[in-house]
Amino acid sequence: MVQTLAAPFPHTRPRRTRQAPWVRDLVRENTLTVGDLIWPIFVREGADGEEPIPSMPGVSRLTVDRAADAAARAADLGIPCVALFPYTPQEKRTEDAAEAWNPDNLVNSATRAIKRLRPGLGVMLDVALDPYSSHGHDGILRGDEIANDETLVALERQSLCQAEAGADILGPSDMMDGRIGVIRAALEANDFTNTLIMSYAAKYASAFYGPFRDAVGASGTLKGDKKTYQMDPANGDEALREVAIDLSEGADMVMVKPGMPYLDICRRVKAEFGAPTYAYQVSGEYAMLAGACDAGWMDRARVVAESLMAFKRAGCDGVLTYFAVEMAEGLR
Ligand code: PBG
Repeated sequence: MVQTLAAPFPHTRPRRTRQAPWVRDLVRENTLTVGDLIWPIFVREGADGEEPIPSMPGVSRLTVDRAADAAARAADLGIPCVALFPYTPQEKRTEDAAEAWNPDNLVNSATRAIKRLRPGLGVMLDVALDPYSSHGHDGILRGDEIANDETLVALERQSLCQAEAGADILGPSDMMDGRIGVIRAALEANDFTNTLIMSYAAKYASAFYGPFRDAVGASGTLKGDKKTYQMDPANGDEALREVAIDLSEGADMVMVKPGMPYLDICRRVKAEFGAPTYAYQVSGEYAMLAGACDAGWMDRARVVAESLMAFKRAGCDGVLTYFAVEMAEGLR
């Protein structure tokens, strides 16, 4: 970038281009549109019901029918894609997480219900075992260890069920080694050649997931932490290696997670690979912003728009955000 050509003050006055809305519009470098938003929805059992999540004020777990209606409203606002997460009843959580490959589990049922109402809306499903395992881990537990290669077999089964249910994007969020290659090979071998993979490529072992684990009912069950598979928040170069591996194994899109504390990683990933790059503005980020706004300390509409624009400025092509619907309404 050529910075040196600018004349010194007063010939150069940066405020000239900020003097009025029309010129601010003209020089604006980034835009946020409804097409940039992916909306995560929590699904629970039952019919015609919803249940607020205390640590995520304003977000509820929805029964399948309500989730489908909510997704239809999101589609009508122009939101291109929703991401579904299950609140699995405790009695269906097992050591081997078999509910993950039940064709009629909550997210597979919700996917079919959404596709009946709005076939043109993208549906993304998380590939990981934590909402289904009795220990709250993303993989199969053997003694104190998460067994990587055994977990891959489970993830493959889960993925094929999700593709069969009609999921458009699979989002492996488990951080096992080799999972993208295994899932991609299974999809190709079973004629799911159009199923997209958005890999949670650079996923950090973050405290910002706290409210999500409440939302899916995993906070009480999780034994220990996820540091042997999720990344150390101190590392940046390692994120680039993870993204390189996932792209080489067949990921179509990559994600950085959490979002706001990791904008430097978003920037580096986009600059290095130029692949479709997404950030997940996670539950803890939502809780911080929503909590402060509810307390009257910040202006919600403005703070939401600013936080989402930051992802575009950092180079992201889109954002998974619990604010998607209100942002879409704000953009109208
Ligand atoms: C599970 C998963 C998590 C999130 C998305 N998928 C939590 C975790 O890894 O413990 C977090 C989402 C959020 O915090 O909003 N594999």
